[in-house]
Amino acid sequence: MTEYDDRRPTTGGLTAAIVASAAVGVLAVGVALYGPPGLGALGFGTAEPAPSGASAPAVSAPAYATEEYGRRLLAHTAELLGQDQPNPGLRYINSRLNCGSCHLATGTEPGTLTLLQTDEHYPRFSGRAGGMTDIEDRINECMQRSMNGRLLPMDSPEMFAMASYLRSLGTQYQAMGASSLKAKEPAPFKTPVRAAEVAMGQLVYSTRCGICHGSDGLGLLATEDPGQGYLFPPLWGSDSFNNGAGMHRVLTAARFIKARMPLGEPTLTDGEAFDVAAFINSKPRPEMTDLERDYPDKSAKPIDNPYGPYADDFPLEQHRFGSFQPIDEYYKALKKK
Ligand code: HEC
Ligand code: HEC
Repeated sequence: MTEYDDRRPTTGGLTAAIVASAAVGVLAVGVALYGPPGLGALGFGTAEPAPSGASAPAVSAPAYATEEYGRRLLAHTAELLGQDQPNPGLRYINSRLNCGSCHLATGTEPGTLTLLQTDEHYPRFSGRAGGMTDIEDRINECMQRSMNGRLLPMDSPEMFAMASYLRSLGTQYQAMGASSLKAKEPAPFKTPVRAAEVAMGQLVYSTRCGICHGSDGLGLLATEDPGQGYLFPPLWGSDSFNNGAGMHRVLTAARFIKARMPLGEPTLTDGEAFDVAAFINSKPRPEMTDLERDYPDKSAKPIDNPYGPYADDFPLEQHRFGSFQPIDEYYKALKKK
């Protein structure tokens, strides 16, 4: 086993430079994000490749496939499952995001994209898959789309560890007091009654987002070694989520951005969040194949699904950027019939 170095960049010179040059509040954010340095320097990185065969995970999972390994996989996905991972068998993702880039604090933050209640959401019907899905299937949806990667085998230690971690959050959630569950979020996003304006979004981006995510949107690496992933993740480009990801839907992105961004200071209006989400999602990113197979029942597609085919005649552009009220009303009327 090689030593796995925790890369938390709380004391790195690069981080210090960013913190010094960025707005007040970034320092606090950095500490909240990355915690005290040196936490959990466990030995990982040379895990055995997934055992083949269809034995049940509970039987085949090795001792290291713990909830804690699962948490680390969500926190350091780029490093542990990315293209620079020393063990080729573990190179599952092509982006350089972490699950925690979107599921803040590895899903333990209450509110938008929390994973605290995931356990109670499954099994459930998925319109996108056209069938019943379990936590493991949902993890793989984010693996293929949000992480632009490939499927984790159901019996792999990594799948077992991540699913165990997510299930353990259910217990953690129940143990949390009502006061700590009150999400520190602004009022929920309300869809503006107009199409999103990409040019306005660019303006929001340059004043409120570029300082961390970069004026080119390509993020800021944690260290000079790309294998360690990003301090501020990319919002488009080859290391970002692909066009089949939930974050590529403008309403999903706007909801997240209004609730969470700018990180530590989420003060955008609905209009600003809407426009900047459209701007980000107008930029190039990796493309997923076979997207036309999603949603076997096309009328189950979310109205802001950014790729066809659709069960309606609204133009693609309107599904991508709005206005959404006419599409919404069309489907509501259809359901009444
Ligand atoms: C680019 C952002 C992004 C990244 C990175 C990401 N996800 Fe997600 N994830 C989402 C979005 C968006 C949803 C859908 C939320 C919704 O349906 O409202 C989601 C949903 C989920 C759900 C379902 C939650 C529930 O309660 O139903 C799970 C589980 C999940 N993600 C796990 C992961 C794991 C594990 C990783 C890393 C391998 C990951 N995600 C990476 C954006 C992301
Ligand atoms: C203070 C620095 C900072 C600012 C300013 C900021 N972000 Fe972020 N953003 C982050 C960090 C850090 C993450 C990843 C969270 C983590 O790793 O815990 C993130 C994650 C994201 C993600 C999900 C991950 C991804 O790469 O797609 C999106 C989308 C996003 N930010 C959009 C925005 C937008 C839009 C703005 C401007 C309105 C903005 N951010 C401003 C620091 C910032």
